Amino acid sequence: MTSLNNILEKAYKEHNLSKEEILTLLNSDGKELYKLANKIRKENVGDGVHLRGLIEFSNICKSACKYCGLRSPNTKVERYRLEPDEIINYAKQGAELGYKTIVLQSGEDNYYDVDKMCDIIKGIKKLDVALTLSIGEKIYDEYKAYKDAGADRYLIRIETTDEELYKQMHPNMSLKNRKQCLYNIKSLGYEVGSGCLVGLPNQTIESLADDILFFKELDADMIGIGPFIPHPDTPLKSELNPKNFDMALKVMATVRLLLPDINIPATTAMETINPMGRIIALNSGANVVMPNILDTEHKKKYEIYPNKICLNEHSGKCRNCIEAKIKSIGRFVSETKGFHR
Ligand code: 5AD
Ligand code: FES
Repeated sequence: MTSLNNILEKAYKEHNLSKEEILTLLNSDGKELYKLANKIRKENVGDGVHLRGLIEFSNICKSACKYCGLRSPNTKVERYRLEPDEIINYAKQGAELGYKTIVLQSGEDNYYDVDKMCDIIKGIKKLDVALTLSIGEKIYDEYKAYKDAGADRYLIRIETTDEELYKQMHPNMSLKNRKQCLYNIKSLGYEVGSGCLVGLPNQTIESLADDILFFKELDADMIGIGPFIPHPDTPLKSELNPKNFDMALKVMATVRLLLPDINIPATTAMETINPMGRIIALNSGANVVMPNILDTEHKKKYEIYPNKICLNEHSGKCRNCIEAKIKSIGRFVSETKGFHR
């Protein structure tokens, strides 16, 4: 059995680990792992933190993912959909706040057809910002149309690479198709973002190690890792596990070891279950934060999981707050668009 220190040394030199070595890291207390992830982050991407302004433009979703508060069977959600001009207006506000990337996220909502999406994309790309889409599973031609219209990056978490767990969590969806989406996005020349949930019921540590190896094999440009947080109006409402924060942090830090120069967000879910979550993540390998730029009325309705942070804060306040937090740990807000490649 290789010791923890040997594994960390190997990771530092080679950025490659076996599944067994990853498991040793995930079963450790994390302290040394976080330290090394922070060092590798500093040496490879520096002290700049990229801010990405997030616009959650529709909470309407045709899917029924067991963990997600926005799943279609949840009738308690007050649904909304923003029109293309409203979305572009939010993006303008984001650009004025100094965000160099705008992220458009929504449920799996077919209201936005190719023509509507391309209009939105072209409108936002006039603002001299990078544009990330996070709007779910589409066919190849649709991804191609959005790329041609000017989208730069696409985010689609694999959620879990455990075939059986994937099936349990995602009615009428398939892991195979999800992987195909990621490969299509990559082949079209997008920067590819993915990631997983940590702490789903029946999720094993072995499968988390597989998730990490999948991100390495995909050669992702961005990986977001979040703890699972039970939503009261979903079938998983009683599956709270306080260990999810630490495990999510360990998975995130291990990703930094294997993919030393990619973009890794300190996720909102981390801060939701730990008041210092984003600072801790930024000190354990992360180099990105994604503040919300919606008004409070819409923000509250985008309840993927409960008790999301900043629901009553104005977007301008979050912009200042997050900059102050970043400066408080000796880091700075990056002035670039923050491309990986
Ligand atoms: N807790 C934490 N994260 C969640 N997501 C969905 N539901 C939850 C939950 N209950 C994550 C998924 C999705 C991202 C937008 O939000 O990983 O990809
Ligand atoms: Fe919203 Fe701190 S980031 S108030």
